[in-house]
Amino acid sequence: MLAARTIRTAARINTLTPLILARGLAASHLSSLTDAIKHDHRELETYFSNILNAKDNDTKVRWQNQLVWELSRHAVGEELVVYPAMDKYISNGTAVADKDRAAHQKVKIILQDFQAMDPSDPQFEPTLKTIIADLKQHIQDEELHDIPLLEKALANNLVESAELAKSFERTKMFTPTRSHPAAPNKPPFETAVGLMTAPMDKIRDMFAKFPREDTLGRRVPENAT
Ligand SMILES: [Fe+2]
Ligand SMILES: [Fe+2]
Repeated sequence: MLAARTIRTAARINTLTPLILARGLAASHLSSLTDAIKHDHRELETYFSNILNAKDNDTKVRWQNQLVWELSRHAVGEELVVYPAMDKYISNGTAVADKDRAAHQKVKIILQDFQAMDPSDPQFEPTLKTIIADLKQHIQDEELHDIPLLEKALANNLVESAELAKSFERTKMFTPTRSHPAAPNKPPFETAVGLMTAPMDKIRDMFAKFPREDTLGRRVPENAT
């Protein structure tokens, strides 16, 4: 029975992986890094609202899993692609990148608690609101200051900006989908730890509930039904 389930699961992964790749690559049509980052931020804000406005706990759990999934990928994608580009292209960019890494670390620690919480837990909504408040400030910093600085540094190199946008989207396909605050957040360590934790996260994803695709618009984990 276990063997049959394993075979079915393997078959499911095999048939769905190209679909995930296609979705991820479809998202890479966003031509600049600013577009790609802002697009993710707006999605995350939608997921916050959907959790808070959900009428029942099952719906809350689905959007909770979606939020953790997307936020974890977004954070690691930035840490692997965007913040190293800040280090490289912005003068004094390391200070900017380190400030953003610290903001991520703060959110990751709370997100690790939140991802295991049931909506019936009295701390569920207060914890979510703490994440929203912390992330709101960080999103503002990125959109109004940090990413414009990077785009300005790349103003004469639009090809590199477009390449970074593509790398950001591609990297997110292979990164962890759960919060791992103990993992280092700078390459090359993030790469190695990320690749080790990502497969375990994908297995957890197979047993988690996600929003139905028709309620989402785009991009869902492989087991969303
Ligand atoms: Fe960020
Ligand atoms: Fe961001």
